[in-house]
Amino acid sequence: MTLPRHALLAAAAALAVSTAPAVHAQAAGPLKVGLMLPYTGTYAALGNAIENGFRLYIAEQGGKLGGREIAFVKVDDESDPAKATDNVNKLIKRDNVDVLVGTVHSGVVAGMAKAAKDSGTMLIVPNAGADAVTGPMCAKHIFRSSFSNWQPGYAMGEVVAKKGHKKVVTITWKYAAGDESVGGFKESFTKAGGQIVKELTVPFPNVEFQALLTEIASIKPDAVYTFFAGGGAVKFVKDYAAAGLKKTIPLYGAGFLTDGTLDAQGADADGLLTTLHYGDSLDTPRDKSFRLAYATAYKLQPDVYAVQGYDAAQMLGIGLAATKGDIAKKAEFAAALEKARIDSPRGAFTIGKSHNPVQDIYLRQVVGKENKVVGVASKALADPGRGCRM
Ligand code: BEZ
Repeated sequence: MTLPRHALLAAAAALAVSTAPAVHAQAAGPLKVGLMLPYTGTYAALGNAIENGFRLYIAEQGGKLGGREIAFVKVDDESDPAKATDNVNKLIKRDNVDVLVGTVHSGVVAGMAKAAKDSGTMLIVPNAGADAVTGPMCAKHIFRSSFSNWQPGYAMGEVVAKKGHKKVVTITWKYAAGDESVGGFKESFTKAGGQIVKELTVPFPNVEFQALLTEIASIKPDAVYTFFAGGGAVKFVKDYAAAGLKKTIPLYGAGFLTDGTLDAQGADADGLLTTLHYGDSLDTPRDKSFRLAYATAYKLQPDVYAVQGYDAAQMLGIGLAATKGDIAKKAEFAAALEKARIDSPRGAFTIGKSHNPVQDIYLRQVVGKENKVVGVASKALADPGRGCRM
C-alpha cells in the first residue's frame, strides 16, 4: 500500500515530535536519587538524619538541583553487609536510579561502591568511612561528603599523646569502621611514643560490654580509645560509667560516640572528649542558619549525620549545575567537585585527590546536651587515600 504524500508528511512530523520531546523530557525530567540508608537497627537514627539533611538542602533550592526536580527511591539496608549487593542492585537495575546516595555502615558501602563501579553509577557516600572507598576502591564517579574512618582516629591519637597518656586500651566493634578508626588512632599515638596495650572488640552490632569492661578495669591503662556509634554508643557510654570506669580511666573516642546520642546518654557522657569534623557550638553564620532551618523543619537538633546528608545534596547540586542537569556527563561532574569549595555548616571544605573531604577535625567536649568545640585537633586533614589510583 502506498500512502498519500500528506499522510507521509504527517507521519514524519509525528515521529519528529515524538522523538525530540522524549530526549528533552529525559534531560529535564526528575533526577532519580536512590537513597540506600539504614532505617532500622542500631544506625536507624543516623539514616534518618542523613535523609533529613539531604532533603533540607534540596528544599532550600526550591526543590531542584541543576534545573532538575528530584525524585527519591528508598531502600532500608538494615546495616547488613550480606544484603548490600541485592539492595543496591534493586536501585540500579530495577529502579534505574541516576545517582546513588548511601550509606552509613562501612561493610554495606563496600557492596555499594563495587556495584557503582561495575555499573558506572554516580555514588555519593554521606557517612560510611570505609578507608577502601577512597583507597583501593576509589573511582572518578565516587565521592564522599563525610570522612574516612582514619581521620577522627588519627586526630585523637595526637590529642591523647599530648595529654601525656602512655598506655591505652582500644575497644570497638569488629568491622571496618572500628578497625580503621583504631588504626588511625594507633598510627599517630604510637608515632608520638604511645603504646596500645590491648585491642578489644565485640562483633557488630553486639552491645554486651560487661566482660570487656571488667578486663579494662584489671589492665588499668592510662586511657581508653573507642569507636561506637548510634545505639551502641549510647549503651557503651552508659555501661562505662556504670562500671565505675569513667572516674578512674579517661575515655576518648571518635566523635560518633557522643553525636546524636546525648539525650539518651545524659550525665554519663558529661565531660567526654572526642574528635570529629563537626560540633554543636561552631558559632558561625553558616552553621547557625543551617541549625535554625533544620530545627524549624524537623523539630530536632541536627547532628553530624544531618550535616553530611546536607553536604551530599550540596555536592550533587554542584555537579548538576556544572553539567546543566545531565548526570551522564561524569567527567564534567567530577571536575566540578574536584575544584569545589563546599560551603558546609561544619566549615568550608575541599575534596581531596581520593574524593574525600579535606577538613578540620575538631576537639569537642560534652557539656550538658552539646558537643562543645574546644579547639581544632587537626587542621585541613586529608585522608591519605592509600591505594587509590584513578
Ligand atoms: C561506618 O560504619 O563507617 C560508620 C558508622 C557509623 C558512624 C561512623 C562510621
